[in-house]
Amino acid sequence: MTDFAADRLLLFGATGDLSRRKLLPSLCALSADGLLPENLAIIGTARSDLDDAGFRDMAREALEEFLPAERRGSMASFLNRLSYQPLDASTLDGFDALAAKVAEAGESESDGGIAIFLSTAPSLFGPTIAGLEHAGLTGDRVRMCLEKPLGTDLASSAQINDAVAAAFPEDRIFRIDHYLGKETVQNLLALRFANILFEPIWNSNVIEHVQITVAETVGLEGRTFYDEAGALRDMVQNHMLQLLALVAMEPPTSFDATAVRDEKVKVLRALRPALANETVTGQYRAGAVNGSAVPGYDEELGSASDTETFTAIKAHVDNWRWKGVPFYLRTGKRLPERVTEILVQFRCVPHSIFEGAHAAGSGGLHPNKLLIGIQPEENITLSLMAKVPGLDEDGVRLREVPLEIAMPDAFAEGQRRIAYERLLLDLIKGDQTLFVRRDEVEAQWEWVDAIRAEWEANALTPKTYTAGSWGPNAAIALTERDGVSWHE
Ligand code: BG6
Repeated sequence: MTDFAADRLLLFGATGDLSRRKLLPSLCALSADGLLPENLAIIGTARSDLDDAGFRDMAREALEEFLPAERRGSMASFLNRLSYQPLDASTLDGFDALAAKVAEAGESESDGGIAIFLSTAPSLFGPTIAGLEHAGLTGDRVRMCLEKPLGTDLASSAQINDAVAAAFPEDRIFRIDHYLGKETVQNLLALRFANILFEPIWNSNVIEHVQITVAETVGLEGRTFYDEAGALRDMVQNHMLQLLALVAMEPPTSFDATAVRDEKVKVLRALRPALANETVTGQYRAGAVNGSAVPGYDEELGSASDTETFTAIKAHVDNWRWKGVPFYLRTGKRLPERVTEILVQFRCVPHSIFEGAHAAGSGGLHPNKLLIGIQPEENITLSLMAKVPGLDEDGVRLREVPLEIAMPDAFAEGQRRIAYERLLLDLIKGDQTLFVRRDEVEAQWEWVDAIRAEWEANALTPKTYTAGSWGPNAAIALTERDGVSWHE
């Protein structure tokens, strides 16, 4: 942890989509809850020619649209924190004026600190860093936070990381993966490492396979830049591999940035390059989601495209703990429901003493499974076999029953927060535990690049699927040939 709390937050891309939907609402909600430092000033910058008042008006509209009224608190006191400086970040010209605005908003050099949040096109990362250096905004009391996309492959990501590293040491660089800001994702660590129950069985002796699903009902949503990425780079490279790392990592020695990230990166480096036949890609065609007709991807995009909007991958972590345990990953847009969940499927008991017993409801003795719901429902369900009450005149009857913890019920006092609230607060305080280190990002890219190379070498193009279905049939075949069904 770097030891200062920022008294200024400088937001690049302040008028953009992420700022309007997530960053300003998160900051306002934190402010309403009294969680932001009293003196924190927020300086927005972007190309739009606004003044302070214009930016505050834009922010007010965004808050009214994207933050529920009960979380807004006194909007006026939040809006008072905001100021704005227009800037064309592609040239050095405006950076001195920006630095003057930032200086004006803050404490003296030695007391204060600056957190910079870069949510701009990756092509502006280099010029922005150069401008900040030129204007003296890269000193010891400045942190840099980066939002994805950080490149499109290992080489371009390394280039961005090099440019940032030339101005900031790694302990002042904060790379966002907003999934790490989700309460239930952090709860994975508590589940695994604050309980003795799971760790002894959390390995290939007892676990048969793991499934990670991130399903979305939305389509392109006007984000035409998605077409440059596709599901593999947009969702797997970051969020899904972070989930996988949290499930598969060894116990860190403490909950701190170095210990946690050291263990995650070992998992990411142990990922075996996936073969073409261990992956499936798809692109949605017109169909219906939640009862409404929706157009196909090509139609939404306005042109033909080979970008995948769905991918399923059978991944392997090549280490002692996970030898022979497949991790099935799947993510896609325009799927039947919005759900993010992790299923841990345990093995069958080694010998059934209930041979010949009747299974009530469904056939046979079912292996246990642990289902960790991340969104929209936050719940943890362990399915167990139990005896159906009765005198057993026809033999013992067994049935699978759920042992269920609904997190919102268990913690009624808890506030459901936007993932960025936690991350922005950690950025302001300087805690890197929930941010992604360079070596992690690079290990993630390495694995993803190898998959894309496989697709290219095998001339694979996405199969089609109807919007509102669970992806192409090949995704079902991917697991069925191992005798596994996707959890639905
Ligand atoms: C973003 C992706 O990182 O995550 C989007 O770029 C995706 O395509 C989004 O929709 C999903 O986030 P969440 O928090 O809604 O699951």
